[in-house]
Amino acid sequence: MEFIIVQLLLVSSFGWIVEIKNECSCTDYKLYSECISSMGCIWNTSLSKCVDIKCNTLKSQTECISQSQYCSFDLSTFTCVPFTSCANLSGNTVQQCQTQNQMCSWVSGNSCIDYNCTNFNQNNCPYFCINTGSACENFSSCEKLNQTYCTLYSGMCYWNQNQCLNQECSNFITSTQCQFVLKSENAIVPCYWNQNQCINPPDASVYNSNQCFISTIGQYHWSSNNSTMGSCQQCQSSQDYYKPMTDFLSKGFILSIIIMGIFMII
Ligand SMILES: *[C@@H]1O[C@H](CO)[C@@H](O)[C@H](O)[C@H]1NC(C)=O
Ligand SMILES: *[C@@H]1O[C@H](CO)[C@@H](O)[C@H](O)[C@H]1NC(C)=O
Ligand SMILES: *[C@@H]1O[C@H](CO)[C@@H](O)[C@H](O)[C@H]1NC(C)=O
Ligand SMILES: *[C@@H]1O[C@H](CO)[C@@H](O)[C@H](O)[C@H]1NC(C)=O
Ligand SMILES: *[C@@H]1O[C@H](CO)[C@@H](O)[C@H](O)[C@H]1NC(C)=O
Ligand SMILES: *[C@@H]1O[C@H](CO)[C@@H](O)[C@H](O)[C@H]1NC(C)=O
Ligand SMILES: *[C@@H]1O[C@H](CO)[C@@H](O)[C@H](O)[C@H]1NC(C)=O
Repeated sequence: MEFIIVQLLLVSSFGWIVEIKNECSCTDYKLYSECISSMGCIWNTSLSKCVDIKCNTLKSQTECISQSQYCSFDLSTFTCVPFTSCANLSGNTVQQCQTQNQMCSWVSGNSCIDYNCTNFNQNNCPYFCINTGSACENFSSCEKLNQTYCTLYSGMCYWNQNQCLNQECSNFITSTQCQFVLKSENAIVPCYWNQNQCINPPDASVYNSNQCFISTIGQYHWSSNNSTMGSCQQCQSSQDYYKPMTDFLSKGFILSIIIMGIFMII
């Protein structure tokens, strides 16, 4: 009994948080819309199923490196091949590495290195890292941003009383903005539009098939291939793994929406 009470208190003070740690397999995504929003997955029209991308079926370099989590472009054969690690790719410049895989960078020597925000500086810091004005760091929270950058990341951050804070669900005033907010480097707070306000719901049961995937940044999926039936279910990966927000963002999930600002595309 005590245990239950403690749990309820935790729920009410912190709300429902989704940690970025479980991955769905492509076959878990039964809806076309979820499938095509997931890196590494592709919709097979003849099977009407979501399946793993096969790198060798990606013909252009652009298509190939858009799947950088799984594939890299082989510059000697001009084919798309499964990605192993950045260290396995050779290159002498940042550009040479990134034309093979967007997730790779270069600092010295003849091979590429794994993607790491701290390898960039304030002048070439990508959107999915955090530009503090003096350094490029993993996106962990809005607190480090000055007013200029805070405004740039307006889908995630807002400026209040001389500091940059993480957005909260309740700050959103339209249903389109009301999707999720950042909690930490490896967690988000899902949001839900309840009649006329944006709230942090108690769990995923509130979501319909359009909201399930987006509001949980793909950590949940719709259980049925029929969007009017079923429920929003958590992904269950075989292994738990730590996935910093930066890692997740850099792999492309609705990057344009969150980073460029939800407000800009409405
Ligand atoms: C779809 O699946 C079928 C049967 O497995 C396969 O022959 C076909 O190549 C697949 N299509 C694509 C685009 O992957
Ligand atoms: C490099 O690639 C080879 C095969 O292509 C693989 O066996 C090896 O594990 C890879 N190395 C790393 C560090 O991933
Ligand atoms: C990222 O780079 C920093 C600074 O070079 C280094 O301390 C850190 O270990 C690197 N992290 C990874 C995962 O490579
Ligand atoms: C924020 O930092 C950038 C880079 O250092 C600088 O150009 C900009 O003027 C700063 N903005 C404010 C409001 O301090
Ligand atoms: C989806 O489920 C609803 C409710 O059971 C049903 O009326 C509808 O025909 C189903 N749609 C398809 C395409 O199966
Ligand atoms: C859902 O899957 C079932 C069986 O796998 C199939 O018969 C049905 O047509 C599918 N419905 C939709 C809407 O794709
Ligand atoms: C930053 O993110 C990268 C990529 O996900 C990760 O490998 C690295 O450990 C993170 N760095 C820190 C300092 O947390």
